[in-house]
Amino acid sequence: MEVLEAIENRRSIRQYKAKPVDEKTLELVLEAARWAPSWKNTQCWRFIVIRDSGIKAEIANCLIKSKRDDVLVDNPGSMAIVQAPILIVACAELGKSGLNAGVFATDKGDWYMFDVALAMQNLMLAAHTMGLGTVPLGLFNAKKVAEILKVPEGFCVVAMTPLGYPDQEPRTVPRQELSEIVFHDKFGA
Ligand SMILES: Cc1cc2nc3c(=O)[nH]c(=O)nc-3n(C[C@H](O)[C@H](O)[C@H](O)COP(=O)(O)O)c2cc1C
Repeated sequence: MEVLEAIENRRSIRQYKAKPVDEKTLELVLEAARWAPSWKNTQCWRFIVIRDSGIKAEIANCLIKSKRDDVLVDNPGSMAIVQAPILIVACAELGKSGLNAGVFATDKGDWYMFDVALAMQNLMLAAHTMGLGTVPLGLFNAKKVAEILKVPEGFCVVAMTPLGYPDQEPRTVPRQELSEIVFHDKFGA
């Protein structure tokens, strides 16, 4: 699959088959994450691969409900975590990304969110090219997840995704037109 095709056709998958993912396929997906660019190649990311259904269930309970039209609805990521054979939790080492000469060099401070997102996107695109589904999850209590997974001081949990074979035809959610998001020479122009 061409990169552009993978980018355009990847969709968030929230329903999974129980079919296992073999080690070789998992390794290829993680390899894609490993080759992401990062601040001064600091590679602050760490990935925890979880197959244990008890741990997956505990983490599924850490997801935060969404508010839609003033009504609280379950985060569909919870069920996805329980169903999928694998959960990948992306963590970051803090204080590595965004440094220049030993200090945070920009107004953004620590760039770990950016670096981890790049790795996650690589991982999700690679998974898609192999017929696997993912959904990036961010609406959860990251401190609770860190406790469950014994993430040490100096690291944090950033995001996670189930990984498995899709059991749904996902709907495509629209994107803004280029004319709405691309400017020329000056912002807004
Ligand atoms: C940072 C981030 C956090 C997200 N968190 C959740 C989440 O907690 N639960 C969920 O169901 N989807 C979550 N999503 C998935 C988005 O809803 C989804 O990517 C978006 O609607 C576009 O759909 P698509 O991925 O199918 O193109 C998240 C996506 C991103 C990038």
